[in-house]
Amino acid sequence: MAVGTDFRPDGALPVIADAARAGHEVLDRTGTVVVGATQPLRLALAAVLAGGHVLFEDLPGLGKTLAAKTLAQALGLDFRRLQFTPDLLPSDVTGSSIFNPATREFEFRPGPVFTGLFLADEINRTSPKTQSALLEAMAEGQVSAEGTTLVLRRPFHVFATSNPIEFEGTYPLPEAQLDRFMVRLRFGYPGPGGEQEIITRRIGRRREATEVASVISADGLLALQAAVEAVDVDEDVIDYAVRLTAGTRHHPAIEVGASPRGSQALILLGRALAVLDGRSFVLPEDVKECAVAVLAHRLTLTPSSWAQGTSTEQVVTEVLAQIATPTTAPRG
Ligand SMILES: Nc1ncnc2c1ncn2[C@@H]1O[C@H](COP(=O)(O)OP(=O)(O)O)[C@@H](O)[C@H]1O
Ligand SMILES: [Mg+2]
Repeated sequence: MAVGTDFRPDGALPVIADAARAGHEVLDRTGTVVVGATQPLRLALAAVLAGGHVLFEDLPGLGKTLAAKTLAQALGLDFRRLQFTPDLLPSDVTGSSIFNPATREFEFRPGPVFTGLFLADEINRTSPKTQSALLEAMAEGQVSAEGTTLVLRRPFHVFATSNPIEFEGTYPLPEAQLDRFMVRLRFGYPGPGGEQEIITRRIGRRREATEVASVISADGLLALQAAVEAVDVDEDVIDYAVRLTAGTRHHPAIEVGASPRGSQALILLGRALAVLDGRSFVLPEDVKECAVAVLAHRLTLTPSSWAQGTSTEQVVTEVLAQIATPTTAPRG
């Protein structure tokens, strides 16, 4: 049984094929600058196509800022980067009112969050107050500053980078804020030969700065997002996402499992992965592919499993192994 927009003979397939081609071009261009990290970048792009925000979390020096910046360039979005520091104020993110002597009135000067893609670099180095100013923008698509509420233009996406919470001088993001990121992605160290390749490329270009030409524009991205919205989802696949998410709530190592926002993100992201593969329907494999990135950051370990060094990634992997995959034969 199909739920949502069914496949139509009126051109739905060419739209998906075009979207898949554009997506691959974005990833290819990003790959000319970023070495490796193929899977995190595919998931980051899928999250944007699904209308979400992305958290890149890993140790310093693994290419998080570079990846976020390069993907933004390839997407052709208006791009602003803000380095989050302990002394940053909410108004440094949202903007503030400036007195204009000519009109004798206060005028709102929009902050860097008024952009297409906002890179919140090292987000966990700033205070909770400033973090929550960004949270409102992410969750509501609007900014409240000094009594006025301004709506952000679409597309609006946040790429945040963060260091693991054990690092000195960091403020861990509260659960409510983590939940607003569709995915949390880790990079890990470069694979065999990857580190040499990073250095060879740096020597080859004879400068630090990198650049890629944009593949699409803001309007192009809105069209790709519309293609994702048109993708069909089978009830069995929805049921699978719900059972996986419920599985995180019942796992013995978990105190608080993922909410319906998590199961919904599995399906929304699954649809974007389907489009990147040129399909107009979602397979259980799409849900599997993104499950760790979607669910792990939404789980709270019990104190004892935390003390034993269990990771929430491990928990999601275990849940994936426990829950039976539906054997729906895909249409199309
Ligand atoms: N996967 C990678 N591909 C290309 N360059 C990389 C990669 N990882 C690290 N680098 C290089 O290492 C440096 C640190 O990268 P950066 O993005 O600032 O790391 P992070 O934000 O994770 O601390 C940069 O000079 C970058 O060019
Ligand atoms: Mg960085």
